[in-house]
Amino acid sequence: MNVKSLLSHHNHYASLGSPWSAKADKVQSVTGVMLGCFLLAHLHFESSILLGKEAFFHVVQFLEGGMFSSTGHGFPVVTKVFSIFIMAVVIIHAAVALRRFPAQLGQWRALRRHMHGINHKDSHAWFWQLVTGFILFFLAPVHIFTMITNPEIGPHLSAERVYHANAWLLYILLLPAVVIHAMIGLYRVAVKWGFTHNRAGLRKVAKVLIVYLMVIGLLSLISYMFIGQELTLPVTPYVP
Ligand code: HEM
Repeated sequence: MNVKSLLSHHNHYASLGSPWSAKADKVQSVTGVMLGCFLLAHLHFESSILLGKEAFFHVVQFLEGGMFSSTGHGFPVVTKVFSIFIMAVVIIHAAVALRRFPAQLGQWRALRRHMHGINHKDSHAWFWQLVTGFILFFLAPVHIFTMITNPEIGPHLSAERVYHANAWLLYILLLPAVVIHAMIGLYRVAVKWGFTHNRAGLRKVAKVLIVYLMVIGLLSLISYMFIGQELTLPVTPYVP
């Protein structure tokens, strides 16, 4: 085999993709589904503040393993360890997702041309997932790192973080980016791995979930702001 045909063989197989690429695809889907499901649970637990301080207090004590302590109070170290685990999943997810990013201006231009040229809803969904993924690359680690270094959660402690430590500035950007990214992501995984063929129906479910999660997230943020405003510093943790 001469060099020319060797090269053409190599190019042919390279264009078919490598086994690593198929594996990376699976890792991306599995970590993406883990994070999407985590977000659905997270926003519901966290918006229990809408039912009052006591409801949120009990949710936090339960999640932090309050049933295993004699006082009924949970252990913030549980939050710390779980946050380290979520950070690891986010890092793996981002690392395999990076290979899909258009690397050069020319590729971005080609993508924009393609988007203008065709009116395919899934291409538009993919584009928005790319943009929100880029935003999350910077915002998500800030929040998770805070939960690792300062895992104290509660009606007053969270309100102090949101209002007095200005975490609302982060959350107001993180909320739409992560909700859109996660719901489009779950939709795309369901279509990609053939869980459903009813794309239009599933797109509707994703849209309803985006609006619903944004509403409960925003209302919870507003609740934390009101609670934070009424607190005097230094804050004492809430006990029912
Ligand atoms: C295990 C790790 C995590 C923990 C323990 C955690 C905990 C919390 C808590 C307690 C709040 C309420 C406000 C506060 O106390 O500061 C909050 C808010 C929020 N978190 Fe997380 N979080 C984690 C990971 C994530 C991840 C991975 C995302 C998405 C990338 C995320 C997105 C959000 C958003 C958007 C809000 C604001 C919610 C709203 O608008 O009501 N969190 N988080």
